[in-house]
Amino acid sequence: MMWDRLWLNVNLATMEPGGVAYGAIEDGAIAALDGRIAWVGPRAALPAPPARLADAVVDCAGGWLTPGLVDCHTHLVFAGHRARDFEMRLNGARREDILAAGGGIPYTVRATRAASEESLFAAALKRLDVLRAQGVTTIEIKSGYGLDRETELRQLRVARALGQARPVRVTPTYLGAHGVSPEYKGRAAEYVEFMIREMLPLVVREKLADAVDAGLERIVYSPELIEKLFQAARAHGLPVKAHTDQYSDAGGGGIVGRNRGLSADHLEYTSDASIAAMAAGGTVATLLPGATFTLRETRMPPVQKFRDAGVPMALATNCNPGSSPTTSILMMLNMGCTMFALTPEEALAGVTREGARAVGLANEIGTLSVGKAADFALWEIDVPAELSYWIGWNPLKAVVVAGKPVPLPGA
Ligand code: NIG
Repeated sequence: MMWDRLWLNVNLATMEPGGVAYGAIEDGAIAALDGRIAWVGPRAALPAPPARLADAVVDCAGGWLTPGLVDCHTHLVFAGHRARDFEMRLNGARREDILAAGGGIPYTVRATRAASEESLFAAALKRLDVLRAQGVTTIEIKSGYGLDRETELRQLRVARALGQARPVRVTPTYLGAHGVSPEYKGRAAEYVEFMIREMLPLVVREKLADAVDAGLERIVYSPELIEKLFQAARAHGLPVKAHTDQYSDAGGGGIVGRNRGLSADHLEYTSDASIAAMAAGGTVATLLPGATFTLRETRMPPVQKFRDAGVPMALATNCNPGSSPTTSILMMLNMGCTMFALTPEEALAGVTREGARAVGLANEIGTLSVGKAADFALWEIDVPAELSYWIGWNPLKAVVVAGKPVPLPGA
């Protein structure tokens, strides 16, 4: 036999760019060998009758197959929740009031520091399974709720362990610069030195992260400090990314672009100069509608400018207890369209091809292309736009990771 498995009676949204919408192949066929895609095309072009080609032939009942979804920005590992902040905000409190009352990111930092590795793992596993039940096969998971040595390392270890406990690709990101550690209050420069001197070498030695992220807003760090952190990360061979330009133009998109960063995320206020730098640096704009929605922000990211400049756009849940308490990637597809005016094709590309680029895995996953990992999601839908059209309906039928069908959570 040429292949391990062959999927038939299926429409393929290959998400290969440059051709027909969604890179669609109706009445297609796709085959896997040794965990990789070995053949993709119209069923009529198969080189022999299916039973002579593969050990197993799978009938997909006329559904649509997409690349496995990529959630390229999450803070999945945290303790507790922040429903009190949510309630305070809706009773009129401002960000300063919430912080003064003991809420905000510092609340989650305290809760996460106090939590054991086991309890962090158990809580994150539940969230991971909800995402997997919506077709997610690759997920980025950030640290950033420790801001000290032990807790940051614990979060990253939990992220790696999640990828061993479930058939899912996990890419952990070190986000020590999510805020300034309470122990370094008023001494941001010293905290950056601590990250450069102590944390990065540890993270690299233990292979705990695939990238380095930073909160690059005017109120937290100066651009010079983040630039220093980025240069140190790059010297260790770690690509960079940033949460930036969410509340004002901090020039963050430009800093990430000039550092040839993987992605700049949020970007509601990013400038034309930053967009140009992102285009030149091959940096993805990762859009996070869950935060815009939860914080009831009215400023939207400049989607048309990203299109015009050729900046790829990814979409992600930003799952976190403060600004985006969601575990629904399908909801993000809908919000990406209804709030940010992405087309359904751009939204799907945002959680496949461009999400893959945002985690540095564009050559490995994100499109149904020969040679890439055979990670798929099979959907019971008539047209791909249904994936962003439904609100709260999950049409997922099956998931394949590295060529093998995996049980769906809860099934
Ligand atoms: O991406 N700097 C922002 N980080 C998160 C919010 C995290 C939190 O509020 O706990 C964001 O929106």
